[in-house]
Amino acid sequence: MNKPVNLDGAAAWEPSPNNLEPFWMGFTPNRAFKKRPRMIARAKDMHYYDMSGRAVLDGSAGLWCSNAGHCRGPIVEAIQKSAAELDFAPTFQFGHPKVFELASRLATMAPGDLNYAFFCNSGSEAADTALKIALAYHRANGEASRTRLIGRERGYHGVNFGGISVGGMVANRKWFGAMLAGVDHLPHTYNRKEQAFTAGEPEWGAHLADDLERLVALHDASTIAAVIVEPMAGSTGVLPPPKGYLKRLREICTKHGILLIFDEVITGFGRLGHAFAAERFGVTPDILTFAKGVTSGTVPMGGCLVRQGIYDKFMGGADHVIELFHGYTYTGHPMAAAAGVATMDLYRDEKLFENAKKLEKVWSDAAFTLKGHPLVEDIRTIGLVAAIDLKPVEGKPGLRAYKAMENGFHDVGMLVRITADTIALSPPLIINENQIDEIFSDKMPKILASVA
Ligand SMILES: Cc1ncc(COP(=O)(O)O)c(C=O)c1O
Repeated sequence: MNKPVNLDGAAAWEPSPNNLEPFWMGFTPNRAFKKRPRMIARAKDMHYYDMSGRAVLDGSAGLWCSNAGHCRGPIVEAIQKSAAELDFAPTFQFGHPKVFELASRLATMAPGDLNYAFFCNSGSEAADTALKIALAYHRANGEASRTRLIGRERGYHGVNFGGISVGGMVANRKWFGAMLAGVDHLPHTYNRKEQAFTAGEPEWGAHLADDLERLVALHDASTIAAVIVEPMAGSTGVLPPPKGYLKRLREICTKHGILLIFDEVITGFGRLGHAFAAERFGVTPDILTFAKGVTSGTVPMGGCLVRQGIYDKFMGGADHVIELFHGYTYTGHPMAAAAGVATMDLYRDEKLFENAKKLEKVWSDAAFTLKGHPLVEDIRTIGLVAAIDLKPVEGKPGLRAYKAMENGFHDVGMLVRITADTIALSPPLIINENQIDEIFSDKMPKILASVA
């Protein structure tokens, strides 16, 4: 890029609004995007609007986060009020009312004795926070030898070093060196031969949880701190857990004193028809991470919900001594906390989790109308999530889905999320039956036709 330079040699400060070059976009092929940008100018409810005002149906709730729909009045007002009233307040050694209110709301919603909320600003920070709490817990509990962390192949826990170490998506790992030491992985749970075209939890695969016993036999339980999994793997292309798998994992963790962490960054806040997937699957983890839907994507926020016994273990020292040496400047930011409380109100008042539950069958039946299309190799659905595996273009993995996403935005008017050759759909929970029909009877067939 040639930077504009003033005659005296100083960099020019004039804004150059049409220059797309300086923003290095993450998880994006920059050159392709900048040749043909998919620019979003505004949003309302179920739709985005491009620069010309053309509506684009939001098939993915942004990045799985805008669960209450876009620019919802009560959340907007709460953020505006907060910005005018309290722009920032530290939550190290000080506090402000909204963050306590939100923590109480979340602790009440969470299953079991997940009674404490620790806040951060993203799902990646939430994953690293959970791993750090697990390590610190064992040390506080007199078991400092428990340092090993276990993730799962194809898992996604964000992009920080802890998250990519326990994560299992190869492209997110291979560029970044050795990562954390002492990490092992369970096998992923997808087997197309056994599970193709399943709605909900596949029958096959619970036994894969037993691999944890193998890792315990290999490393010894006294070295293992925690196992982290997404109850439904999202970013890798939507892998609902096999029936009984999470219960089995819970049993093995409990048996060996290993903490179980559920990464609910995607599954939290109604995506699977319940406040949390833990509730849907009847399995309570020791730590549960969240982000995205906690503010319906409006203000960055993430966090962990932690069981009573873990919190208690840190509370033994002198009163004036800090218990956990962890936190972020923006932990529990007033605007995020205000957005979070308003979002919880909206979820409750509009019964959005119930809406997701009520529509699950309609959604799934509609998605399965695409079965039989020559380009569709598998379909998986659960809650208000659907994954459609496309037949890859020979020798060019990822190209067909990339084109589908591009055509979806420019030509068909629907935003979809892609991973390799999988299209993942996860609309805002305010969706209605007509819009579900629009997605699967109109938009998706058009998208598929455009990449034939
Ligand atoms: C399960 C899971 N964990 C963590 C993250 C990372 O969240 P963030 O992008 O907010 O850091 C994501 C993001 O998609 C996710 O799906």
